[in-house]
Amino acid sequence: MSLELTAPAQDAPAVADDGVWLECIECGEQFAPFEDIRYTCDDCDGLLEVRYDEPATWDDFEGRGVWRYNAALPFEAGVSLPEGDTPLHEVPRLEADVGVETLRIKHEGMNPTGSFKDRGMTVGVRVAKELGVDRLACASTGNTSAALAAYGARGGMETLVLLPAGNVAAGKIAQASLHDARILEVDGNFDSCLDIVQELADMGEVYLLNSLNPFRLEGQKTIGLEILEAFFDDYDTYPDRIVLPVGNAGNTSALYKAFRELVQSGSLDAEDVPKLTGVQAEGAAPMVEAVENGWDDTRRWDEVETKATAIRIGNPVNAPKALPGIRETGGTAVAVSDEEITDAQRDLAAEGVGVEPASAASVAGLRKLRREGVVGDDERVVCLTTGHLLKDPDAAFEAGDDPEPVANDIDAVLDLLSE
Ligand SMILES: Cc1ncc(COP(=O)(O)O)c(C=O)c1O
Ligand SMILES: [Zn+2]
Repeated sequence: MSLELTAPAQDAPAVADDGVWLECIECGEQFAPFEDIRYTCDDCDGLLEVRYDEPATWDDFEGRGVWRYNAALPFEAGVSLPEGDTPLHEVPRLEADVGVETLRIKHEGMNPTGSFKDRGMTVGVRVAKELGVDRLACASTGNTSAALAAYGARGGMETLVLLPAGNVAAGKIAQASLHDARILEVDGNFDSCLDIVQELADMGEVYLLNSLNPFRLEGQKTIGLEILEAFFDDYDTYPDRIVLPVGNAGNTSALYKAFRELVQSGSLDAEDVPKLTGVQAEGAAPMVEAVENGWDDTRRWDEVETKATAIRIGNPVNAPKALPGIRETGGTAVAVSDEEITDAQRDLAAEGVGVEPASAASVAGLRKLRREGVVGDDERVVCLTTGHLLKDPDAAFEAGDDPEPVANDIDAVLDLLSE
């Protein structure tokens, strides 16, 4: 199997460009990286992965942000705002309350457009330039569309986004709109939007920048690289576990790939690789179902529901890459209720960390796994929070307290305060 944690690096095949090529994770077919546009394998339609003949070592990294890690990426630099270099917050009260040795929060909401998607887009839009395409497109639960619109604008390219009507948070549509994406609201869910945009891409109408595009995941690998470097700086060791929200399972796949490449380059021992632990909402949990049943792929859920609209996804396209990652690192996956998600959103807010509902799923999942005894009290854990609070102002209002109206008068204010 090609996705083993300890699989060694390969020599560059003839199709490689400067030691970089695309490889099918199912049948092993290899392709030149930038000659033609393809998202899946010509032979078997399997997912493609970017491969390097010389995986990077820690010593190869310098500078800041995503492009600090250019030795692990297909280009030196990209269309940048810039992105990455996000905080790894300490949350001492929450850490004590959850009951783990260490809890840190990697807040991806601190990226330029407020989510981790920027890391994928800085690389993806650079590849689009290499390929010479001019119209970029994605299906999105919101954040991808915001990032694509901003990075497309930065790169001077046209952008088209397909969104599930009525199920995208206000902040995200506002971003896509102001950055001048053409926005189509589809009468369907995210998975139907992706079906359509994939067809458009296959017809050559657009260049697809969903996480099916293997170059997006290259940028998202840097989340894992940043976590390991920052954690090691503080504790002289690596986290035991990384807990993350799962929608299309792009991050799960990307983090696993980052760790595999570090193992390949001799920079990380296989036993030090953190356990990848995915969290989904109960109403949209095909990955949890697949992990629980030991499947290699997910079953498509046609009906999905959760207030964490960013992960309201029933057909995770990257499941065949992510499931081996969860399995081989000794991780797991867990589903949480919308109520648990909102509670976790409040918990994080009480530490000053403002996140959107999908992001809080990681903390909700950790709590649940602690309660069930799956996560031990001696574990060092990093939870990933994927998007900023302001992405979904309606959810924030709902989770927080209502403003209190008061007369324009000091005595009225004092009266209220003394209540
Ligand atoms: C805030 C947020 N969290 C999590 C996810 C899911 O990420 P992935 O598709 O990498 O599993 C998304 C993607 O839509 C998102 O916007
Ligand atoms: Zn194939």
